Amino acid sequence: MNKDEAAPETRLIHTRAERLGRVTVNPPLERASTVLFRDEAGLYGAKPTYGRMGLTVHRELEAAMCDLEGARHARLAGNGLQACALAIASLVSSGDHLLFTDSAYGPTARFCERRLKAMGVDAERFDPRIGDEISSLFRPNTRAVFLEAPGSLTFEITDTPAVVAAASQRGIRTILDNTWGAGLLHQPLALGVDISVQALTKYAVGHADAFGGAVMTRDNGLAARIAAASEDWGIALAPDDAYLALRGLRSLHTRLKAHEASGLEMAHWLAERPEVADVLHPALPASPDHVLWQRDFTGSNGLFGVILNPPPEGGMDRFFSALSLFTLGFSWGGFESLIIPCDQQLERMKGSWTQTRAGPLLRLHIGLEATSDLKRDLEGAFKALSGN
Ligand SMILES: Cc1ncc(COP(=O)(O)O)c(C=O)c1O
Repeated sequence: MNKDEAAPETRLIHTRAERLGRVTVNPPLERASTVLFRDEAGLYGAKPTYGRMGLTVHRELEAAMCDLEGARHARLAGNGLQACALAIASLVSSGDHLLFTDSAYGPTARFCERRLKAMGVDAERFDPRIGDEISSLFRPNTRAVFLEAPGSLTFEITDTPAVVAAASQRGIRTILDNTWGAGLLHQPLALGVDISVQALTKYAVGHADAFGGAVMTRDNGLAARIAAASEDWGIALAPDDAYLALRGLRSLHTRLKAHEASGLEMAHWLAERPEVADVLHPALPASPDHVLWQRDFTGSNGLFGVILNPPPEGGMDRFFSALSLFTLGFSWGGFESLIIPCDQQLERMKGSWTQTRAGPLLRLHIGLEATSDLKRDLEGAFKALSGN
């Protein structure tokens, strides 16, 4: 059969292995800085001539990422933040203006506000629910718009096609952090976004034991700019991490389905709890972004937010210490359930985060444990929270 017509899960399993004509299922893991040559023509000829350019496993991961995102070019980076920074810095230079979503992953926002400023770029936040009104923020020197869907911590969904339409009319490029969508739940390039970025660290790796980032585009000119910026900064992905990301992709589809089912079950259960004021999950019909999610996404995963009702004095400390399956940790996308209090991280522009918050905002990642156990764990913590 023609593998290009196969379903995404089939294509992620049958990457270029056979085409490379090897005898093992998986590619060889070459841990190398030095690449050896017999003569000068080889040394200065065919690439890769140095390990930083990536070897077999990198080429296979790049091909898989192109397939996943419907891209023509993929460039790997050491982690997700580096991939976001690479994509942005490939599009803007001194004197330019960048618009970035107010719900961007915190360190990406920090890159825009601190590093880009040091590089002479003016970076401005916009409300993630702005839609086509984004054109009112365009300036003659606006070069790029950075989106994330859904937003970190608060899970708003931007009307990406509306932003893309407004931006492309003015020749402004768009980038979208597609880590939540993981390439399977959301296809930004098909919606007209110029560059899609993923932190492979999350669902691609899937086991909380490696980092990785990837920048994808269909545009040859943009790919050349991304490649040049990556070369100039010496951006590279360690071979072991590339191997783990590629291995993770083989089971991404199956894991995401499990995260989605458990995530939805837990989100619905939490929405009924008296301690919970609101659940921030775009796949719930009550979400203000549900219609956009239905239009632009094909599914959801295990990551969502919860706003609690105001807890009694000391309640949150008791809540976190009573948990035994959910642990506090800043990542997500792995096999284990995690929880974090978000209020300390939530630095937003006035008016963008309009939800009247009753109490603390938590972010939950629902792992692959039995949901009955996860509910029992949270039930015990809710009991401790109320002091019973
Ligand atoms: C949406 C999003 N983008 C990017 C990143 C950065 O990824 P990394 O930790 O690999 O730098 C994260 C990390 O949590 C994230 O949640």
